[in-house]
Amino acid sequence: MAKSSEITLLFFIVCISSSFTFSHGAGKQGKFTVVGKVYCDTCRVEFETKLSEPISGATVKLECNNRTDDTSTFQSPEVTTSAKGEFRIDVTGDYEDSDCDVVLKKSPRQDCSEPTESWRKSRVVLTTKDGVSGDIRHANNLGFKRKEALPQCKQVLTEMGYFELKDELGSEAAP
Ligand SMILES: *[C@@H]1O[C@H](CO)[C@@H](O)[C@H](O)[C@H]1NC(C)=O
Repeated sequence: MAKSSEITLLFFIVCISSSFTFSHGAGKQGKFTVVGKVYCDTCRVEFETKLSEPISGATVKLECNNRTDDTSTFQSPEVTTSAKGEFRIDVTGDYEDSDCDVVLKKSPRQDCSEPTESWRKSRVVLTTKDGVSGDIRHANNLGFKRKEALPQCKQVLTEMGYFELKDELGSEAAP
């Protein structure tokens, strides 16, 4: 009889300790993978067109800053984009109280290395406390501008209705 109660006790301890490890691990330490893509903005418009080209070998970095006092709470190493222009950055921890951005660092292309205004960085949410679930967090596209717009851009942007929009908005929207 002593034996079976020992086994029951042992079983009980194993259950408690494994559930403790599980809830402890899942609760405090989030584990995220931030994914995204870097483009060459060949039309100099700072949004994706069918002429945008993925940039391979570009570097990006993930940076988080405390939202209250703006001190750094996380910095990833610089990560290089793949042949398809894609990057993945692994992060551990929960950054509910930080602003986290993927920031463009370097372009390997001489003809396409001009920094953009709206395609320069991309905000990502790295907490499980806001109801967003899943470990994969998608950053918006990032991009460098080409020195000069490709000649085909006019045609492509016309198809996209860009020039009509520009007329409506006035000249400040000009590239
Ligand atoms: C952010 O800064 C505030 C004010 O200095 C501080 O109280 C808080 O603990 C900081 N949070 C993190 C996550 O570092």
